[in-house]
Amino acid sequence: MAKTSAYTAKIPGPDGRIAYTEEENGVWRDLYARQEPGIREMAAPDYLAGFDKLALPADRVPQCAEVSEILGRHTGWKVEPVPALIGFGRFYNMLAERTFPAASFIRSRKDFDYIKEPDIFHEIFGHTPMLTDPRFADFSQAIGRAGQKLNAKDYSWLIRLYWFTIEFGLTKIDGVYKSLGSGLASSPTELPHSVHGEGVERRPFNVIDILRTPYRIDIHQPLYYVLENVDDLFAAAERDLVADIRRAQELGLFTPLYPIDESA
Ligand SMILES: [Fe+2]
Repeated sequence: MAKTSAYTAKIPGPDGRIAYTEEENGVWRDLYARQEPGIREMAAPDYLAGFDKLALPADRVPQCAEVSEILGRHTGWKVEPVPALIGFGRFYNMLAERTFPAASFIRSRKDFDYIKEPDIFHEIFGHTPMLTDPRFADFSQAIGRAGQKLNAKDYSWLIRLYWFTIEFGLTKIDGVYKSLGSGLASSPTELPHSVHGEGVERRPFNVIDILRTPYRIDIHQPLYYVLENVDDLFAAAERDLVADIRRAQELGLFTPLYPIDESA
């Protein structure tokens, strides 16, 4: 997660709605128009089923309340606007309560192609379709509950599980890789890289392996984990993830597949 942000949160008014400007709604419209053909081609049917259930507006930034209303009917999740960056402790607490923290600002045109921190396009377009799916809904909550049992020094271990599933997970349908993760659904360049890229490693979903895999947030991932059966998330949600983290710590981190960023 980025340590600083050039953006400030958009604060809801007394009616709970955020007033986005015409320019901001135009950014959403253009991001949506660019990304929809990509997800139709490269995202998993599980994601697309959620995307169609939500029927997000194409021409303006959606309000969290209207998305929450639909999520609530399917899985009991809701979306709540938060500042651009929140700490892991608050993040895990919200997931445990089936509440998705959504950065409320939208990127400016100068960051149209890539933005390091999450904005509302990533949060809503990327994340909320999978939160209509009971498997992702339960698994996300399980990560939150595990986070509540951890000391802060272990937060970074658990977040790898979130990163390689919720953010950057893949699945495979009839021999073809498809994206599940939000970071893929909302990225015009990493989406094709993840499913078609050559020289990319794709390993089978394995909780302990994932917990041992370091990542960088500012590059296309050199490695993805593939959930061949999305139903496996139900079993993953039942695991003792705190014990899994202890085991992963005993085994140690894998050597990174990416160049070390000396400036990080
Ligand atoms: Fe995200």
